[in-house]
Amino acid sequence: MKYKAIIFDLDGVICHTDHYHYLAWKQLADKLGVYFDETINNRLRGVSRMESLEIILERLEGKLFSKEQKTEFAEEKNVIYKELLRKMSTNDLSQEVKDTLDKIRALGLKLAIGSSSKNARLILTQIGLEDFFDEISDGNNITQSKPHPEVFLKAAEYLKIEPSKCLVVEDAKAGIEAAKAAGMNSAAIGDACGYTLATYDLLTFSKLISYI
Ligand code: G6P
Ligand code: MG
Repeated sequence: MKYKAIIFDLDGVICHTDHYHYLAWKQLADKLGVYFDETINNRLRGVSRMESLEIILERLEGKLFSKEQKTEFAEEKNVIYKELLRKMSTNDLSQEVKDTLDKIRALGLKLAIGSSSKNARLILTQIGLEDFFDEISDGNNITQSKPHPEVFLKAAEYLKIEPSKCLVVEDAKAGIEAAKAAGMNSAAIGDACGYTLATYDLLTFSKLISYI
């Protein structure tokens, strides 16, 4: 086998939270009177919460907010977002993803999460995978988000496996760039599919088995 471990991004790979992010940011944007739509939401994929807020506020040219106000806005969005996450359940984990994860585990590979989200553990609990992964590297243990490689390098460090033996699965171009910067191969799914920096394209999640 080419790899000893697979590091999975969470949002957009294991399950789908994009729409909940959109709904929560939309509520905040409406309150602030700033235009926000699904296209802008797509730019937030893999980007940290505070960086996402900065992207949303780009449209309010010239209007300046203090650091404290921005922290409050991000917190307000997160309260709405967490409320929406309560609707998630094991039904949000597809049979295809679950079966593929089980097969990879049976092959003896280690499995980790590499996500920019500070809500990763909550999401994993909602979908019934709270105890499934060997290690979780997320928004709580990093200082720089994707495309910086920190989140994936931390995951490899936690797993005690050298980066060159880890394969990253990602739906964000920033995540594919982060994998490359970490010295890891990557499999692109969804939005990132077709990105030239990715090692493999995954048309379906179950295809992953053929690359490991
Ligand atoms: C993931 C999502 C991003 C989100 C980020 C931070 O990477 O793809 O859209 O902004 O996590 O999420 P958080 O749950 O910490 O606000
Ligand atoms: Mg993602």
